[in-house]
Amino acid sequence: MDMASNTVLITGGASGIGLALAERFLRAGSEVIVCGRREDKLREAQRAHPALHTRVCDVAKAEERVALASWVKSAFPRLNVLVNNAGIQRRLKLSDIEDWEASQQELAINLEAPIHLSALLVPHLLQQPRPALLNVTSGLAFAPLAFTPIYCATKAALHSFTLSLRHQLADTALQVIEIVPPAVNTDLGGPGLHTFGVPLDEFADAIVERLRQGEREIGYGTAEKARRASRDELDEAFQRMNSRR
Ligand SMILES: NC(=O)c1ccc[n+]([C@@H]2O[C@H](COP(=O)([O-])OP(=O)(O)OC[C@H]3O[C@@H](n4cnc5c(N)ncnc54)[C@H](OP(=O)(O)O)[C@@H]3O)[C@@H](O)[C@H]2O)c1
Repeated sequence: MDMASNTVLITGGASGIGLALAERFLRAGSEVIVCGRREDKLREAQRAHPALHTRVCDVAKAEERVALASWVKSAFPRLNVLVNNAGIQRRLKLSDIEDWEASQQELAINLEAPIHLSALLVPHLLQQPRPALLNVTSGLAFAPLAFTPIYCATKAALHSFTLSLRHQLADTALQVIEIVPPAVNTDLGGPGLHTFGVPLDEFADAIVERLRQGEREIGYGTAEKARRASRDELDEAFQRMNSRR
């Protein structure tokens, strides 16, 4: 895809991978709108990038997704790219599960929101030149890390949804793209939990290069291996990743 001259909505775009993508779209000459729950994070991102548009929105809530979609279509009628990036990751033991509300939030943010926002915005995107929809999944969609069971299940489901959406829209101009990150050094799951991941800029630069080349499913590092792996290789990866209980 051409990174220039787009109008792009990125959920969860005030930090981490979403912000790194926002910066690259901005630099290439696109208009970018980001949303998130924390107003201070949005303000911080806007201070660093004055051209950035921001909107407070909790994508876990259906009514806020509807309001976001309707606001963005009227304020930015040229919107031609949606990036479903917002996500959370929780570590939990299913035998201890007591906080269903927190689990439901994780399902709503990581899975319900991208499906609902796609449904709300695809008809609009289809009327625009060079439309694209990007879903951010994970290498863990292919082989789960058992201590983040709900997270991994949402990412596997979002991978599946992305395949179906791409198939349904194959006869249209809308490009349905999946970004499959490995562990990347961001605040995912809370500050300090992902410091072992690959550097954010290295990851984002590699992804953007492949977006420019027109690829539709883009992994990096271990996630690139996972998305191309055979079932035997995934079983082996699962054992290796989960060997410590
Ligand atoms: N980092 C990794 O290792 C890794 C690996 C694979 C996949 N990913 C995926 O990459 C995406 C971005 O994560 P990240 O690593 O960049 O982590 P991050 O820095 O924590 O970013 C997540 C963003 O999502 C936003 N968000 C969370 N819940 C939201 C909600 N209910 N409504 C609106 N925005 C919400 C957060 O902002 P607020 O808290 O202000 O709402 C934050 O800006 C996620 O989908 C994640 O699953 C990350």
